[in-house]
Amino acid sequence: MSPELHQIFAHLADGERHNGAELAETFGVSRAAVWKRIEALRKLGLSVSGTAGSGYKIEYPVEVLDETVIRRHLRHSSIDFEVHGAVDSTNARLAARQPVPHGLALIAEGQTAGRGRRGRGWVSPLGGGIYLSLGWHFECGLSGLSPLSLVVGMAVASALRDHTGVEAMLKWPNDLVVDSAKLGGCLVEISGAAEGPCRAIVGVGLNLSLPADATVDQAFTSLDRHASKIERNRLIAAILDRLAADLTHLERHGFEPFREKWPDFDALSDRPVRVLRADGSTWDGRASGLDEHGSLRIRSRGRMHTVNAGEVSIRGH
Ligand code: BTN
Repeated sequence: MSPELHQIFAHLADGERHNGAELAETFGVSRAAVWKRIEALRKLGLSVSGTAGSGYKIEYPVEVLDETVIRRHLRHSSIDFEVHGAVDSTNARLAARQPVPHGLALIAEGQTAGRGRRGRGWVSPLGGGIYLSLGWHFECGLSGLSPLSLVVGMAVASALRDHTGVEAMLKWPNDLVVDSAKLGGCLVEISGAAEGPCRAIVGVGLNLSLPADATVDQAFTSLDRHASKIERNRLIAAILDRLAADLTHLERHGFEPFREKWPDFDALSDRPVRVLRADGSTWDGRASGLDEHGSLRIRSRGRMHTVNAGEVSIRGH
């Protein structure tokens, strides 16, 4: 995103109506150049209504990302971060830094090719959410990291609860939900040795003000429907702090302390679920918490089964 584009985005962020002539004068360019930049912002997913004559207005006010504010609120000294405009995907950008740095977070205003789990995309309009990826190194080996995405989900849900009072829950394995609608998710990508050093990219996406007509293939919600005031920069700092503390704790103490907290976040608790196998077949049961590796326990016909996140997809029904 060019500095010129960012300038006009930041100017519109107040949610007020700005007419084309005023914008042209403020930025010392022609009205046609303003129109071109507005079109470019629209392509990045920003909902701008109006024309040069009637004035331009964004559908929802945005708190523009601000490095100084994030830094002021960040308590965890092991975290460093970079703020970007629109990127393809913060996970992809971090993956391109080889070796993936420990404790570095990339945060973006928007993504043009945001990645979700299971090869899906992640709708990431400019200013409409939180899109961040954190690099983290572990010594415990891949085998100790199977519950990592659960720990990440709980960290993000806790930061949200503390910061906004919104009772975010988790639909196993890592959908962040409010009243059963998806508010966010995480995409954790790990490389390394089964019993040796590993590097993880922890990607977190949260909908803050997603347009109601956004094309998302499941029931979704966004934070502005549940919280009156959203301090985007502060929330980012809170999420990074919580992630740093919890990832450190996971490495030192294992998953058990997190498993004990899971019932407080478990959106599927004791609910009927349908397990969809990769071959298309299904079976039904009742969700019954987690085992020690973070697999979902399901009671079915008097027997307890466990399912791994990679193997199945769960639909509440
Ligand atoms: C999911 O499908 O639930 C996971 C979504 C993860 C989206 C985030 S947004 C920041 C980071 N960069 C990406 O490309 N994806 C993750």
